[in-house]
Amino acid sequence: MAKREGEAVCVTGGSGYIGSWLVRFLLERGYTVHATVKDLKDEKETKHLEDFEGAKSHLLLFQMDLLNYDSIVTAITGTTGVFHLASPCIVDEVRDPENELLEPAIKGTINVLTAAKELGVRRVVVTSSTSAIIPSPNWPADVVKNEECWTDEEYCKQKGLWYSLSKTLAEKAAWEFSKEKKLDVVVVNPGTVMGPIIPPALNASMQMILRLLQGCTDAYEDIFMGSVHVKDVALAHILVYENNSATGRHLCAEAISHYADFAAKVAELFPEYKVPRLPKDTQPGLLRAKNASKKLIDLGLEFIPMEQIIKDSVHSLKSKGFIS
Ligand SMILES: NC(=O)c1ccc[n+]([C@@H]2O[C@H](COP(=O)([O-])OP(=O)(O)OC[C@H]3O[C@@H](n4cnc5c(N)ncnc54)[C@H](OP(=O)(O)O)[C@@H]3O)[C@@H](O)[C@H]2O)c1
Repeated sequence: MAKREGEAVCVTGGSGYIGSWLVRFLLERGYTVHATVKDLKDEKETKHLEDFEGAKSHLLLFQMDLLNYDSIVTAITGTTGVFHLASPCIVDEVRDPENELLEPAIKGTINVLTAAKELGVRRVVVTSSTSAIIPSPNWPADVVKNEECWTDEEYCKQKGLWYSLSKTLAEKAAWEFSKEKKLDVVVVNPGTVMGPIIPPALNASMQMILRLLQGCTDAYEDIFMGSVHVKDVALAHILVYENNSATGRHLCAEAISHYADFAAKVAELFPEYKVPRLPKDTQPGLLRAKNASKKLIDLGLEFIPMEQIIKDSVHSLKSKGFIS
């Protein structure tokens, strides 16, 4: 693995939940980081990044809008690698899917890749999601879902799963661009990301565990989910960037569990909260996979176990004052 000390890289969505950890780890590894934020005047987006060790000498912040091509070019100029994380993460109450989710996700990805190609960037790591892998109801029932599997677009449209559709179409657009324009693209597909929070705002995946702790059953989804620690997701991005041998999609989840089992584990570890008991009655034939994230494990990632993910999440929610 080639550690590229001194190299400059761009992180889009650098102020976000995963982006902040990635910026921090890249600074620790000696990279110069161009991190994009939506509003440079908003301290809630900038201060936590400026407080990182090494930020004064090695961090540059750029105001970027995914639909403003010039703002993307400015942020990427002078870098040799791009980590493209910025994408709207709205799961509930989407009123205008096209403008709120689909256009910024898809057009934003094409804009970032176009700028990267024009500026001669070596490799782009695109943050996709397991939402671009499942739901995939037509996948053969006797085959474990893996990186070959794609979310069913029509199913998403029927069910109003606009976030999943945005991630699926954005990732497909990235692969198409990579093939046509010969740009080196590699993709990370994280599951549900949890663990310590750096920014002041709470992102969508941490809101999910917060709602469980608050006893909300409206958070209930009769699904299987892949939990993954936010630090492991950030590390996965660096691993696939630094390893030339890393290619294609990378499923990034430590544990695949039913949401009801996940909730039961949270309840067991933190009995002081009123975590609801949830029924578990669908997908009886779902296949279990050992080492779902084998590609990342083979690159050297040692995933933090689910129990620790839950503990780190709850401690962080407490220390940040989101729960008492
Ligand atoms: N968290 C998860 O469980 C999970 C799982 C799989 C994949 N992912 C993917 O990981 C990436 C980061 O997600 P996250 O969990 O860290 O969420 P997050 O904290 O909401 O980060 C998303 C970032 O994208 C920025 N952004 C959104 N729309 C933008 C636009 N139009 N122009 C410029 N920047 C924009 C956001 O800026 P503002 O904060 O200012 O809006 C934010 O910095 C996303 O691509 C997401 O789809 C997340």
